[in-house]
Amino acid sequence: PGRGEGDGRGLDFVPVEPNTLDALTAPPGYAQAVVMAWGDPLFKGVPAFDVDKQTPAAQRKQFGFNNDFLGLLPLGRGQHLMVVNHEYTTEQMMHRGYDAANPTRDQVEIGWAAHGLSVVVVEEERGTGNLRPVVGHRLNRRLHTQSEFELTGPVAGHALVRTKADPRGRTALGTLNNCGGGLTPWGTWLTAEENFNQYFANGSTVTDPTTLARLKRYGAANATTERKWERFDDRFDLAKEPNEINRFGWIVEVDPYDPTAAPKKRTALGRFKHEAAEPFITDDGRVAMYMGDDERFDYLYKFVSDGKVARGNDANARRRNRDLLDHGTLFVARFLGNSSQAEIDGTGALPSDGAFDGAGVWVPLVNGTTSYVKGMTAEEVLLFTRQAADVVGATKMDRPEDVQPHPRTGKVYVALTNNANRGAAGQAVADEANPRSANKHGHVLELSELGDDAAANAFTWNLLLVCGDPKDPNTYWGGFDPRRVSPISCPDNLAFDPDGNLWISTDGNALGSNDGLFAVPLEGSKRGQVKQFLTVPAGAETCGPWIDEDRVMVCVQHPGEKNGATVENPASQWPDGPGSIPRPGVVAVWPKRR
Ligand code: FEO
Ligand code: CA
Ligand code: CA
Ligand code: CA
Repeated sequence: PGRGEGDGRGLDFVPVEPNTLDALTAPPGYAQAVVMAWGDPLFKGVPAFDVDKQTPAAQRKQFGFNNDFLGLLPLGRGQHLMVVNHEYTTEQMMHRGYDAANPTRDQVEIGWAAHGLSVVVVEEERGTGNLRPVVGHRLNRRLHTQSEFELTGPVAGHALVRTKADPRGRTALGTLNNCGGGLTPWGTWLTAEENFNQYFANGSTVTDPTTLARLKRYGAANATTERKWERFDDRFDLAKEPNEINRFGWIVEVDPYDPTAAPKKRTALGRFKHEAAEPFITDDGRVAMYMGDDERFDYLYKFVSDGKVARGNDANARRRNRDLLDHGTLFVARFLGNSSQAEIDGTGALPSDGAFDGAGVWVPLVNGTTSYVKGMTAEEVLLFTRQAADVVGATKMDRPEDVQPHPRTGKVYVALTNNANRGAAGQAVADEANPRSANKHGHVLELSELGDDAAANAFTWNLLLVCGDPKDPNTYWGGFDPRRVSPISCPDNLAFDPDGNLWISTDGNALGSNDGLFAVPLEGSKRGQVKQFLTVPAGAETCGPWIDEDRVMVCVQHPGEKNGATVENPASQWPDGPGSIPRPGVVAVWPKRR
């Protein structure tokens, strides 16, 4: 636990200027190192990365592709458990001569192995802020598309999650498209299954209207897939295995301290394109989990457990909290602005009361076997949560990504990354919580629970940032002087530093320069002073981020990702330099004088 509530203390670095370099650029006076990158071995006897000699067996024991969420958990004696998501693969950038129309079995199996999760013990390097992997540590672990995951909570065993390979509906193979995540107070890791729809083929052939409507709402009614896994495993073919897809789209809880513990898909938290899940303890000692569904016009959710959290973050606490996330209430947010809708003109100009703000309610959807949604059973609400939220009239948001409660104030910050379709023909128009039509740059919302209790069923809210070029008068910087801020576009992942300042990483900077990581104070005279701490290499997105007393860490995801980029024709040489292909990797940045 840190000190302040986020008044800007500790943010005395010189901001990094926007750029398009093929490098990670940190402020003057900071050093950097790659902690781990795609293909680096986690275990002894595993071959070092070689794009021309890659095998599925090697990849199953190497660091996966496209690192996204990053967290550190304490081990003591200068060691930490580093937990990392591997969200997706880009085969053209992984295999020489890749033929997208005819992938080989080896290429597909490398893809299966390069997805998933890594747990790696890292140790502090003496005299620097760097961390080095401890190859072969007994706690190191790779989970991938063939690893066993337990389904838990109300949907486990339900007819709609039973398959030929798993007639009990309790053991799923793999986790897919793990985007953001969170750490729990009891020392486990939550990882979010996001765009799982893209792995399943032949949804277009489904004739049952109810099933087809469900697939369509989740974007899974396609004929083919990009990676063509359906040719190598029937479970990715909806015509042959219609329920396999229902075993993805969950929040997964992993105990990284126990390499033998089965990771658990927590069905009580609902099924959608989960971006992340971040906890806060309620006044009466239960846990609230804040979650976004990253799609244009989708929703913000909260889960509140029935049971109280057993305090502590040791093995005993993890044992006592092992079923906590299987019982609770799932809510969805409805936002109400306090200015007249006529004043929300879609440009981003502030209404006459000087703020995008208002109140809101958490609408309950389901608790255990009790559904609060007309026409849907409890299990259906959990499996097809988007449709349940449609029924109750939740507020359509501009792609809710990471949602982060402040560790001390409990205020909740929501990254709304962008929404090109806001205000388009037949689509929802701008409202006070999503005030720009064709929202290119996104915004950050600040939510205060009623009575500062995370269990509340109502809240107030305001927009902290309306992102973009500060020279654009229709951007907003928490009341701070726009002439003294860094431009920011497309906020995605959120984290707090030990002083309580908010850090924001971006994905898809629509201002023409590379993505990056930004810090912003929340309290006092510096509230809204966005400062850029780093930029990532060309084509990359900034993920992770992790900020502690000794270092800032980010995951550089998809460096060199660009239409037409291949192994033969790479668009980045980061991090290995001239003549190399880009490798996604985890970077540590620390002040040189320590
Ligand atoms: Fe995988 Fe919504 O970012
Ligand atoms: Ca207002
Ligand atoms: Ca993300
Ligand atoms: Ca976060």
